[in-house]
Amino acid sequence: MDAPDRQRTNAQDGVLRRLWATETRTFKEHLLRLDIDSRRLRFSGAVSDDFLIDYSANALRRAFAVFGYFADGKLRAVTELHGAMYSRTGEAAFTVEPDYQGLGVGTRLMGRVVLAARNRGMRHLVVSCLRENARMQRIAARHEADISFEPGEVIGTLHPRRANGFSLFQETVAETEGLARAMIDVQTGLLRTA
Ligand SMILES: CC(C)(COP(=O)(O)OP(=O)(O)OC[C@H]1O[C@@H](n2cnc3c(N)ncnc32)[C@H](O)[C@@H]1OP(=O)(O)O)[C@@H](O)C(=O)NCCC(=O)NCCS
Repeated sequence: MDAPDRQRTNAQDGVLRRLWATETRTFKEHLLRLDIDSRRLRFSGAVSDDFLIDYSANALRRAFAVFGYFADGKLRAVTELHGAMYSRTGEAAFTVEPDYQGLGVGTRLMGRVVLAARNRGMRHLVVSCLRENARMQRIAARHEADISFEPGEVIGTLHPRRANGFSLFQETVAETEGLARAMIDVQTGLLRTA
């Protein structure tokens, strides 16, 4: 499926799972599918293919955690969680491919990255975006972010709740399911290339 049928595509249908460092090429291909506007909104300026290739080369190792949304086995959206080990503050960034925007995928990614931040003891999760990025601000606002306006950009600071047994359990379930789905993807890929 290349362009989704917007009537039928449901953000809950795709697979949301952790991306592993070995999936750098998949991540790079996702970034290269972003249009000019999405690239500008993500990186706060125009960026070339070469920039995205460089960025993707180390991003999966550099980030604290990266989660991908797959539709029909293809990576279509990503959230990156950045932050130093044991830091109370993390930063999240999002990329949803143009055909999948406005379908609830970014909202689903936000839920996952907030859970990850929460279970790692982060008390502040920062999301920065351009002022014109109404969708990103809407998602942050729905997660009760404190919003501050800087010249040219908007900073949303979310406050993940403290981890508890249930949030740890939720993440264990998500990781286990994600690992199983990743193994299926590998097997399917092997079958396709066989
Ligand atoms: C910003 C982005 C992550 C949002 O993800 P998404 O999947 O498109 O967004 P969703 O469909 O989950 O949710 C968008 C929300 O904004 C609302 N929305 C959509 N268009 C809107 C608009 N023009 N003005 C205001 N709100 C709008 C939707 O109604 C929804 O809110 P609701 O759930 O309360 O109805 C995605 O569009 C994207 O990757 N854009 C390019 C890169 C980028 O901007 N990254 C963010 C900076 S790191």
